Amino acid sequence: MLNILKNWKNQQTAASNLESLTKEDILNGEIPEHIAIIMDGNGRWAKKRALPRVAGHHEGMKVVKRMTKLANELNVKVLTLYAFSTENWKRPKLEVDFLMKLPEEFLNIYLPELIEENVRVRLTGDPDGLPQHTKKAVENAVKSTANNDGLVLNFALNYGGRTEIVSACRQISEKVKEGKLRAEDITEEMFSAYLMTESLQDPDLLIRTSGEIRLSNFMLWQIAYSEFVFTDVLWPDFSDEHLIGAIGEYQRRGRRFGGI
Ligand code: IPE
Ligand code: IPE
Ligand code: MG
Repeated sequence: MLNILKNWKNQQTAASNLESLTKEDILNGEIPEHIAIIMDGNGRWAKKRALPRVAGHHEGMKVVKRMTKLANELNVKVLTLYAFSTENWKRPKLEVDFLMKLPEEFLNIYLPELIEENVRVRLTGDPDGLPQHTKKAVENAVKSTANNDGLVLNFALNYGGRTEIVSACRQISEKVKEGKLRAEDITEEMFSAYLMTESLQDPDLLIRTSGEIRLSNFMLWQIAYSEFVFTDVLWPDFSDEHLIGAIGEYQRRGRRFGGI
């Protein structure tokens, strides 16, 4: 048999052995500290049901709450949710308007529970590009949860990875120009601090739903060594079992960070 075929067969056996990991095994295993999710597939979920796309976004909002609760229970430190990209402004006005109302609706319903559950809300993205009503709702949630020390629920809203990197470069260049910083003192660590994630640790696990295998401008710097899990499940159908499954997949990976 060709070696390539033999290796492939061995790998298959290894994979099926690992699939017998039970839910309990996973929950007792290493839980990623920072989970980031590209919540995709709301539109297709709605289309499958002959509903308007916005119905998918509305359903997706409930999943956000469920995943927040589960992540908090699992002692995840940071849950980043990609909710609106800098490219999503290209969508029809009706859809954009709806998406800009969702954070308010979400927070109107769930903020008291988030406070009670000790969740700290945080924003990664440009607040000034948001409509005033959206910005106000998010800033209010950030303020009223600022003293909580449980899960950090980090919404990537009006966020784009390239814009973020360019903005960090501009801020650093200004400092150099003013003579407050020397070019040779710029380090990776310092650069990270100028990003919109500031002091947040990098994602350990990145999940994207809906079967698309791309990053769509998400955290290009921060995911240098994240583990990626892509699933065909559409975001409104994403359940506790799916999140636990993705964590199980993460636990099977050997993270080497370039070492051996
Ligand atoms: C993700 O679902 C939500 C946002 C990008 C705001 P989509 O709206 O992208 O759903 P699909 O990809 O069209 O199915
Ligand atoms: C990425 O999804 C952005 C969010 C999930 C918020 P998109 O649906 O916008 O990505 P593309 O256009 O398919 O790459
Ligand atoms: Mg999409």
